[in-house]
Amino acid sequence: MRLDGTVALVTGASSGIGEAAAVALAHQGAAVAVVARRRERLEDLAARIGKDGGRVLVIEADVTDEAQARAAVERTASELGRIDTLVNNAGVMLLGPAQDAPVAEWQRMVEVNVLGLLYCAHAALPHLIRAADDGPRYVADMVNISSVAGRIARSGSGVYNLTKHGVGAFSEALRQEVTKKHVRISLVEPGAVETELAGHNRPEVLEGIRSTFGDIERMQPEDIADAIAYVVTRPRHVAINEVLIRPTEQER
Ligand SMILES: NC(=O)c1ccc[n+]([C@@H]2O[C@H](COP(=O)([O-])OP(=O)(O)OC[C@H]3O[C@@H](n4cnc5c(N)ncnc54)[C@H](OP(=O)(O)O)[C@@H]3O)[C@@H](O)[C@H]2O)c1
Repeated sequence: MRLDGTVALVTGASSGIGEAAAVALAHQGAAVAVVARRRERLEDLAARIGKDGGRVLVIEADVTDEAQARAAVERTASELGRIDTLVNNAGVMLLGPAQDAPVAEWQRMVEVNVLGLLYCAHAALPHLIRAADDGPRYVADMVNISSVAGRIARSGSGVYNLTKHGVGAFSEALRQEVTKKHVRISLVEPGAVETELAGHNRPEVLEGIRSTFGDIERMQPEDIADAIAYVVTRPRHVAINEVLIRPTEQER
């Protein structure tokens, strides 16, 4: 298995893309730390991975709290021994026009999608640099989950667009800073995936999302996990910087 002897940390692993990514990385031989707020969901996932012979560490944490984010990273390094892969996946998408939007929704998106990702990236970076230096693969990976919304702004999606464009900008700058150290920073930008993400929206917004995307056949979390696993299993000299991945029927 390609990730034998390595350790991966996945944020937002209690559902959707993060959950599927944890399974996919464990399947490739990585020991996996699974991080989110819903402990029961993480325990359930850990039991499934464990049954298949994988090694899992459950960490209940809110990544918007810098101390909790840092503690999750440090616990992973101390209990699993190292960190070769960070999948910065935890995110929220609260849509709707800017006018009269509840500002608390904007704060939540900035806190989770931007600050949470930055806290985890900052804490994990020294571990990734060390992992790239001392094997077993002599390369380490940070995969930041953005979105098509990180490429194209859309009416009714302004602040989500802002957070995901920000993730793209930060990822490219960081990539240039650490690529000579063999730490690869990759951006994965999914289109519509069938997960719990949209379900946190206000009912009137949810209706709008449904009519925008209609009844196209959405991707499954496993489709994105597959892309993440591909990115992190490339040979040391190959860096997949960016993956834009849409359902075939999604136009924009
Ligand atoms: N689904 C799509 O169509 C789509 C498209 C493009 C990009 N994405 C991106 O993919 C990522 C994963 O989303 P998903 O679609 O898989 O949605 P999801 O099923 O709702 O998963 C979101 C995950 O983020 C975690 N999370 C939220 N707030 C958190 C916090 N404060 N601290 C720690 N974890 C937190 C949630 O866990 P807890 O609630 O247990 O904490 C959950 O595990 C997001 O960044 C999203 O923007 C999704």
